[in-house]
Amino acid sequence: MFDFDRVIERRGTHSTKWDMIAKLSGIQAPDALPMWVADMDFAAPAGVTEALMEEVKRATHGYYADTGSWAQALVDWMKRRHRLTLDPAWVSQTPGIVSGLGLILQAITEPGDEVVLFPPAYHAFRKIIQANGRQILDARMIETDGRYRMDLAALEARLTPRSKVVFYCNPHNPGGTVWTAEETRALAAFCARHDLILVSDEIHCDLMLGGAVHVPALTAAPEFADRIITCLAATKTFNLAGAHVGACVTPNAALKQRLDQRIAASGLSSYSSFGMIATEAAWRTGEAWLDALLPYLTGNRDLLDARIAEMIPGARPMRLDSTYLAWVDFSGTGLAPEDVAERVKSRARIFASPGEQFGPGGTGWLRLNFAMPRPLLNEALGRLGDAFDDLRSQTRSDGALSRVRA
Ligand SMILES: Cc1ncc(COP(=O)(O)O)c(C=O)c1O
Repeated sequence: MFDFDRVIERRGTHSTKWDMIAKLSGIQAPDALPMWVADMDFAAPAGVTEALMEEVKRATHGYYADTGSWAQALVDWMKRRHRLTLDPAWVSQTPGIVSGLGLILQAITEPGDEVVLFPPAYHAFRKIIQANGRQILDARMIETDGRYRMDLAALEARLTPRSKVVFYCNPHNPGGTVWTAEETRALAAFCARHDLILVSDEIHCDLMLGGAVHVPALTAAPEFADRIITCLAATKTFNLAGAHVGACVTPNAALKQRLDQRIAASGLSSYSSFGMIATEAAWRTGEAWLDALLPYLTGNRDLLDARIAEMIPGARPMRLDSTYLAWVDFSGTGLAPEDVAERVKSRARIFASPGEQFGPGGTGWLRLNFAMPRPLLNEALGRLGDAFDDLRSQTRSDGALSRVRA
């Protein structure tokens, strides 16, 4: 019913992922493969296409009237998928989550204030904080038992009176960490103790792999709901990033009013009809599509993990419980990070996201987007294997040598 194996030609379609490869990575090869920016190479749910087709066929594309049906569709979705009760009155639309984060910073902080990040963390967090003249306070995560953990004690020692906001990626990008209710509640309590606003970016919350369960911040820490802003979107879930619409949700009316004032001050209180129509249709009609997509992505994850272990001695993908963004540590290969990057770029002709982009703790890692039809993924993995084949032959000869010595 859903053909995720179908390869759709996206070159020459204004696709950032495909059409910006040469410009942004320097890879000139015509057969270059993109495994960087977080969108998928799958067709969106049919209900989205139908809703857009209706609009296109009618051919009257005037201003969008916000009747409240969009926020209601989001609220219904969060109830059905995550058992979270939201009120449509808590929802502010923004032209995407990253712009929402910028608007939040403008609404509730001053230039020079500090925003806590848990790196390695989504690179656009860093950029939007800096672009708004705010400071990053990095609370580097610790890796134990193959997953990330926050070190709140270390963070506590570094807070200053200028620390105002925490950007929490729930689930985490990169690394795919699905935070437990206890972890999120501990963070929310920490924020309450230190008077910090907790911005919980849950854009990846629908992309749970192998049965993992997302716990919204508002579910984990209802007693601290007043200091939580949750960022939600249909765009990551249903491959609609170009629709550019997201939601910032908070039950704190005063906080919401400040955000709405900032949205109005930027002239953003009116929305793109195409974005609104596409994302509302996705929430209303896309559930069966998503239910079919998740096992497919889980299969891609397992394939990538197995092939990397088999083909690149010393490389280690972190076990992803969510997202389609593999996070692979190459430090065990014994190769310098520049050598790894060069092999992936020049030999494999693959554009991957360099780990340094994600801040402290990212060096030596690459992020690889595997949300692609399996024929493409097999091609990419084959090329990655070839790019490191000397490591395999070296391991084989070392193994043979140690057997002879034994
Ligand atoms: C954690 C996180 N937040 C936000 C975004 C982007 O959201 P938007 O396109 O709505 O700005 C991404 C995209 O990869 C992401 O990973």
